[in-house]
Amino acid sequence: MVLIRPFLQSSLGILSARRFAGHGLQVHRDSPENNAKTSFTFTEESMKKIRAVIANYPEGHKSAAAIPVLDIAQRQNGWVSISVMNETARVLDMPRMRIYEVATFYTMFNRTPVGKYFIQVCGTTPCMLRGAESIIEALLKKLNVKMDETTPDGLFTVREVECLGACVNAPMVQINDDYYEDLTPDDISVIIDDLKAGRRPLPGPRSGRLASEPLGGPTSLSEPPKGPGFGLQAGL
Ligand code: FES
Repeated sequence: MVLIRPFLQSSLGILSARRFAGHGLQVHRDSPENNAKTSFTFTEESMKKIRAVIANYPEGHKSAAAIPVLDIAQRQNGWVSISVMNETARVLDMPRMRIYEVATFYTMFNRTPVGKYFIQVCGTTPCMLRGAESIIEALLKKLNVKMDETTPDGLFTVREVECLGACVNAPMVQINDDYYEDLTPDDISVIIDDLKAGRRPLPGPRSGRLASEPLGGPTSLSEPPKGPGFGLQAGL
């Protein structure tokens, strides 16, 4: 058994246990699918990307590439098993523990397998105030799963996460690399139907907004600029 992040867990206490509960195992325990004997090697395509990433950093600073290389690993394998972390450490000439520290600190790395479509629902305050709970309820009902579960066909995993940085388009979800924003429960149902049918729903706001502009049209800077000197005293 390899202990990962004992310091963080003990120092942050109960809050940490709750906060990280949705992000998979932080203490590694061998399982048939996740043990150091399972094999993982980077494909030639991944290695090409890794070499390009490493080349961004000065000689002797390969470890700076830890996060992008873990991301490449996760995209190849679908999740970050202990073998994936060990191989990442080997490729970057780093002690394994340093890769364990990175992979278990950043919640974007999945330490347990996820479905083909990994749905991260934002449940932080702005999204919650704009109806995140109804989105979560609609999602779980539609997929007939509980939070953090994967559908039996392996297609969908639902996880509640902290702010994804799109609060101005709350409520929102991230599905793999795409953001779906300004959601209603009906929107999320249509998105799931599209994914099930093999279609890629158009990412972005569902409210008719292009981005995060006001829904009812501009509310400021609506007149032509007054030009230089506007508002200055006559004597100036
Ligand atoms: S609170 Fe949901 S994206 Fe920020």
